[in-house]
Amino acid sequence: MSRVALISGITGQDGSYLSEFLLDKGYTVHGIKRRASTFNTERIDHVDVHPRSGDARLFLHYSDLSDPASLTALIRDIRPHEIYNLGAQSHVRVSFDIPGYTADVTGLGALRMMEAARSADVGCRFYQASSSEMFGSTPPPQREETPFHPRSPYACAKVYAYWSAVNYRESWNMFCANGILFNHESPRRGENFVTRKITRAVARIEAGIQDKLYLGNLDAVRDWGYAPEYVEAMWLALQQDSPDDYVVATGEGHTVREFVEAAFDRVGLDWQRYVELDPAYFRPAEVDALIGDYSKARRTLGWAPKTLFSDLVRIMVDADRQLLEDERMGRLVRVDR
Ligand code: NAP
Ligand code: GDD
Repeated sequence: MSRVALISGITGQDGSYLSEFLLDKGYTVHGIKRRASTFNTERIDHVDVHPRSGDARLFLHYSDLSDPASLTALIRDIRPHEIYNLGAQSHVRVSFDIPGYTADVTGLGALRMMEAARSADVGCRFYQASSSEMFGSTPPPQREETPFHPRSPYACAKVYAYWSAVNYRESWNMFCANGILFNHESPRRGENFVTRKITRAVARIEAGIQDKLYLGNLDAVRDWGYAPEYVEAMWLALQQDSPDDYVVATGEGHTVREFVEAAFDRVGLDWQRYVELDPAYFRPAEVDALIGDYSKARRTLGWAPKTLFSDLVRIMVDADRQLLEDERMGRLVRVDR
């Protein structure tokens, strides 16, 4: 019988890659989508076979991390072997504008998922999408034992969710694992995270339809990996004999400025002619440098990154050039089922 997984955040970057990964492994995948006034399943439409075809192994359900009753009912109904809690208000800058909502969905939402799994009593394994943002101002390299010093409402909410997962493990003997993932990017990255904002702008500036790229802090250092590789680490964390917490990273740090320079270089343009600073993109408190030490994941999970900085920049710039070309040629048409 096929294994069953439930993913919150299935419509996001990581949820879409994880769905593909699990479907390839033969899983039946259930995902939570939220009601929105516009279509929000663009990242998974290509793997979503309609249930009426009889071949479907991916099923989407309306629910929300703010609605405990629907989460419990869903878990009771589906009886998943594995739950991946990827749903979150995941934008750090935005969390300063909506701190209460971020705490509710990103922090309490994780607790609601764990409590729903516990009360449904289905004996499933639970993955919590923890974040390198929790390390905040503690200097790199950061590893599992590094003390947290969160610097945003988002990071505070993630610390709460992290400790809730540890607490459910210790209190209820639930198999709860935290993946402490450093930044990971891809052509499916949300358009208002810095890497994707840059690569989209590069494609548009090259095509002559955008003049300037407005950014905030160019000095921040991040450890950027490739998202499709990171979802494998999530799965591996749930295949171990006992639950634990893992840093997942590349171990390489680069500034935002270096990313900008490499992205413009890819199309032969001088970034200094196009990039301007806008104070709106600076944060009330910044995280200066995140660089992860992933030795435990390598040792225990057998996981290591393959795609590093310059390949990541190339993949993302090339994908945004292609996407723009497809949009301009009218090749991207949504077909309703
Ligand atoms: P993302 O693209 O922003 O996706 C977030 C997902 O959460 C989306 O599917 C979103 O739905 C869903 N969501 C938001 N509010 C929700 C709610 N109230 N109820 C149910 N679902 C809700 O994020 P990502 O990059 O894939 O990241 C996945 C997870 O890993 C997040 O928890 C993030 O905080 C964490 N993380 C990410 C990184 C990274 O570098 N990407 C690093 C460390 C940790 P809509 O599509 O409807 O908006
Ligand atoms: N978004 C954004 N937009 N960031 C900018 C900009 C801009 O115009 N200009 C400079 N930055 C800087 C930010 O100040 C930050 O230091 C860095 O670029 C990265 O910002 P983001 O891409 O928004 O990512 P993040 O590091 O804040 O958060 C991401 O990674 C976390 C893991 O460390 C998100 O995916 C979080 O959900 C995730 O937990």
